[in-house]
Amino acid sequence: MSFFLKNTLLIGCLLCFISPMELFAQDHKLGTLSPPRKLTEDQAKVASANYQKYCSLCHGVDRQGHANDHAPSLRSKSLMESGVAHQILRPMSYGRKGTAMGGYLDEVGGPMTLDETWDLTYWLYEQVGYERLKLSTNPVHGDIKRGEQVYLANCTTCHGVNGEGVTAPALGNQTALAHNTDEFIRHAIQNGRQDTPMLPFKDKLSAQDINNITAFLRSKALGWIEQKTILKALPTPEEYVINKEGDDPNFDLQDSMYISSEVLFAALQAKKRMVLLDTRVTSVWQNAHIEGSIPFPYYADLDETVAGIPKDVQIIAYCSCPRAAADYTIKKLRDRGYTRTAVLWEGVFGWMNKGFPVMRGDIEGVAD
Ligand code: HEC
Ligand code: HEC
Repeated sequence: MSFFLKNTLLIGCLLCFISPMELFAQDHKLGTLSPPRKLTEDQAKVASANYQKYCSLCHGVDRQGHANDHAPSLRSKSLMESGVAHQILRPMSYGRKGTAMGGYLDEVGGPMTLDETWDLTYWLYEQVGYERLKLSTNPVHGDIKRGEQVYLANCTTCHGVNGEGVTAPALGNQTALAHNTDEFIRHAIQNGRQDTPMLPFKDKLSAQDINNITAFLRSKALGWIEQKTILKALPTPEEYVINKEGDDPNFDLQDSMYISSEVLFAALQAKKRMVLLDTRVTSVWQNAHIEGSIPFPYYADLDETVAGIPKDVQIIAYCSCPRAAADYTIKKLRDRGYTRTAVLWEGVFGWMNKGFPVMRGDIEGVAD
């Protein structure tokens, strides 16, 4: 089946389940959600203690917000009715990169278990007891250019010219934009956050302009200043062997497999003849790689990728894991008779940590 046909069928099917009224409703509210599970007494006790221990410092003893670092209120109606569970749970669990809000889930080094983060989310909800709105997860469409003008005229004193947050949350924060849906953002702009400096804009700005700002903020999800990666051309087979005229490096392998970053760097400096394989996914080769390496992802079809690599040249593979993908690839090459093979012990991150150089894909407007 063609891609187009599949897509058309898929969209067709989705439309059978969503009524046109819902698709075109002005405020995209789709009713209410049933209340989440109730905490047991013990769970509520632990959650309350966790809140005081970990959160009250900034969000305030009574969840009123703004005790420190402009931490938002965790009891405003508009947040609690639109944010439970995930818009509360995710910042709590993973934090917002580059702001005072850190991640509290043990998985990222925080003090709370997964169950405790869920319980604290529901505890915050139980303290206020508003109904949870069911908001659409569809994108909010708008005129991004116009949205930027309205944003600059109305929002920058508190949220910053670059969405960095001055006395209010950083609206351009990429973690926040990754977690918050368009409707969640729009709901906040329309209704404000009760008992905080964030006033409702639904009577000050037109519905269309609120959509425009929402679309403008969404357009910043990959960064306030757009950075376009220009993909580097992949090396061709004639470029596979580095220092074609050089001598063989004659490596002395550890455990018949490994060489250190120092040994590899010395061989590159001495212009030895080698092939360097970057066994990671090719997109990260585009970000940064050891000069002269060829993208040779661990998942590629070996018969295709290996063509063009001579059997008598020293091959060194590396990855970032620090060795799993490189080990895997080299073992497969050895099975095919490539015996002059080795793996970089520390991986590319170890190589970089030791101060050895890497190349990266070109980023528009950024000089190396
Ligand atoms: C007077 C200062 C001020 C102005 C002006 C202002 N805000 Fe806010 N805004 C805040 C504060 C403070 C908060 C956090 C409130 C809280 O929950 O405690 C906030 C919260 C928000 C949030 C919710 C963020 C989140 O992660 O929950 C959004 C979205 C937002 N503002 C958008 C806007 C937009 C768009 C404008 C302009 C149209 C604007 N604000 C103007 C102070 C302001
Ligand atoms: C060191 C101060 C600090 C502590 C401690 C802290 N926070 Fe925050 N929190 C912040 C700040 C600042 C923000 C807003 C960041 C931004 O978007 O600019 C925030 C944002 C949030 C948000 C997003 C709210 C919204 O309106 O979108 C939630 C939810 C949250 N914090 C929950 C918690 C919980 C739960 C705890 C305790 C486990 C906690 N925070 C501890 C400073 C803190």
